[in-house]
Amino acid sequence: MPLDQKPASDKNDLPLMTMEEGIVLFHPHMPERGAEYVAHTLGTRWIGQGPKVDAFEREFRARLRQAGPCLAVGSGTDALHLAYLLAGIGPGDEVATPLFTCTATNLPLLYIGAIPRFVDVDPVTLNISVEDLARKVGPKTKAIVVVHYGGLPCDMDEIHAIARRWGIPVIEDAAHALGGAYDGKPVGALSEFTMYSFQAIKHLTTGDGGLLTFKDASLEPLARRLRWFGIDREDKQKGIWENDIREVGYKYQMTDIGAALGLAGLEELDRTLAHRKALYRRYVERLKGCPGLRIVDDFDPRKEHAAWLFSILAERRRDLQLKLRERRIESGQTHYRNDRYSVFGQSGHFPNMDKVDDAYLILPLHTKIGIAEVDTICDVIREGW
Ligand SMILES: Cc1ncc(COP(=O)(O)O)c(C=O)c1O
Repeated sequence: MPLDQKPASDKNDLPLMTMEEGIVLFHPHMPERGAEYVAHTLGTRWIGQGPKVDAFEREFRARLRQAGPCLAVGSGTDALHLAYLLAGIGPGDEVATPLFTCTATNLPLLYIGAIPRFVDVDPVTLNISVEDLARKVGPKTKAIVVVHYGGLPCDMDEIHAIARRWGIPVIEDAAHALGGAYDGKPVGALSEFTMYSFQAIKHLTTGDGGLLTFKDASLEPLARRLRWFGIDREDKQKGIWENDIREVGYKYQMTDIGAALGLAGLEELDRTLAHRKALYRRYVERLKGCPGLRIVDDFDPRKEHAAWLFSILAERRRDLQLKLRERRIESGQTHYRNDRYSVFGQSGHFPNMDKVDDAYLILPLHTKIGIAEVDTICDVIREGW
């Protein structure tokens, strides 16, 4: 297959476009010094987990004002799996978790043998509904998982109040929310556990990768052992080869190749975030009040949106998508309600999700487009469909 061949879309029947053909929905952000840092790493002794991973963790913690230890891993999914283990979630435990999210939020719970208890969406934000959460959490609930959909922080005060009432931890899936904030505090400094994803099209990429941060620093040695087979790497590197393995660890670590790209991305993260947030604001300016659509945002002043996705709820969504496509503009859905996947074996009553299911639509937002492209997209939408 030629190197630049387009992959087939599995999301809908509209094939993916190239950048030459129009305005694409997603595009990876390659930092200016990414290739240089990766090439340098390839010439060193460490291409697996080594000093670049350590440097990435230190830099990430400092730049993003994280509250506790930061552990770089192979994917956001790895980070969630580790978080669930560290939170003590085990077989048969119930976990209150979003219905509307990437399946990666919920699949690691099945791996552990835990039971995801799906919570309906808030129809304004597509985040977890606080009202439904309050109904679903009970004495059997071991933890609450929330996802900041698109980068818009959830109602954290209300969620923490429910968690406190039941004495259970909150695990934030911040795969979309790098650079978001709530009540002046950065995401990652709010709850017991927060995970990030550095998958290809996220704000910051390491090819694939993720990071887990947690407030309880006493968990760090266990977290580091679990990340690497259950082995204490420091002891091992001191030459103590007989060190025991007491926990079932796995291979969750990031590589120095990925970390090199991540370090280059961190250097320009402020610029990346500023760009994305400017595009987000422009969409809001141009589309607020536009007939036939509603912006997915509650504009709550406590929340700073991380601008990973710009989403709308559109009347006759399919017609709008087709019109956009005629004008060479991609749009789409990234996630689907998880009760749709038989692996979860769940059906329930989710009236809010039912209302928005045929309406939510994502518009392009990435560093390969600027204000002019956002204006073009908004002009097309404002013509009506
Ligand atoms: C909300 C959410 N959670 C978790 C993940 C999983 O992250 P990763 O792909 O890095 O494993 C993703 C997507 O990538 C996501 O969008």
